[in-house]
Amino acid sequence: MSRPRALVTGHTGFLGPYATAALEGSFEVVTASRTGGDVVADFGDPSSVAAVIAALRPDFVLWLAADSRMAHCELDPAGAQRVNAEAPGRAASVLGSRLLYVSTDLVFDGRAAPYSPFDPTGPLSTYASTKADGEERVISQGGRVVRLPLLFGKDDNGRGASEMVRRALSRGEPLALFTNEYRTPIHCRDAARTLATLLPLVTCSRIVHVGGPQRVSRWEFGRMLCAAQGLSAASLLPTECLDPMRPRDVSLRNEIAQRDLFEMLLDA
Ligand SMILES: NC(=O)c1ccc[n+]([C@@H]2O[C@H](COP(=O)([O-])OP(=O)(O)OC[C@H]3O[C@@H](n4cnc5c(N)ncnc54)[C@H](OP(=O)(O)O)[C@@H]3O)[C@@H](O)[C@H]2O)c1
Repeated sequence: MSRPRALVTGHTGFLGPYATAALEGSFEVVTASRTGGDVVADFGDPSSVAAVIAALRPDFVLWLAADSRMAHCELDPAGAQRVNAEAPGRAASVLGSRLLYVSTDLVFDGRAAPYSPFDPTGPLSTYASTKADGEERVISQGGRVVRLPLLFGKDDNGRGASEMVRRALSRGEPLALFTNEYRTPIHCRDAARTLATLLPLVTCSRIVHVGGPQRVSRWEFGRMLCAAQGLSAASLLPTECLDPMRPRDVSLRNEIAQRDLFEMLLDA
């Protein structure tokens, strides 16, 4: 029997390889991004979504593609809006509940954590507001949303929360980490496995939170990573975040049981 076909957008990103690996057992995985895949596509072009869907005819879509660089979204809000909101909305108008849009804990303003899927959003940055708009567009077309927290895990390109710490330590550079920014981080592998489980569940809730097992500040995260990996935390500098665009506590109320954070950090 042939496996259903799952299109993963944004497969060249940090989470992408974990997601495609998690899907490969149960799905025929096809991919699209600007820099490679079965189809090369720039989702900033409004015609690209229909072209990709027509070319690849997916049964399901896992939408990871995003301009996730906060500073870049502030410089190019119209571009961020096209990729983060308009393109997934267009895909959902074709796929409906067979599209799962990956969103972020940063859609919240950080003043009322821990957050459940029913809490109102309050984005503080362009990145966050385009992701919140993407959620609304996807849901209005019958699609589904999964909100993820801060992600970590090994990455050859140095992306993600744990690689940032490890790279700074390996270069002997001091690294400022916020003591007053709280998240519920999760290993990409755990997040990807949950996404693979949720993708075919078309009747599940419209919005699902996949929070990590523990609420920690960025500073606590860095210290826990060092403890798990036997690294010295001496060059990690506790720092207060004063940036109004960064919510202080976007912990997600955990809906799905996860392994322990320390255990996740052992293989980060
Ligand atoms: N990283 C986190 O901590 C985190 C936390 C919560 C939620 N999320 C969400 O999870 C998803 C994946 O995050 P990530 O960290 O893997 O992101 P990432 O590393 O920044 O990767 C973004 C992906 O989107 C693709 N992309 C960007 N602009 C595009 C365009 N105009 N057309 C086509 N593809 C485009 C990129 O591919 P090309 O450059 O090859 O085109 C890349 O594959 C995102 O939706 C993000 O909002 C991430």
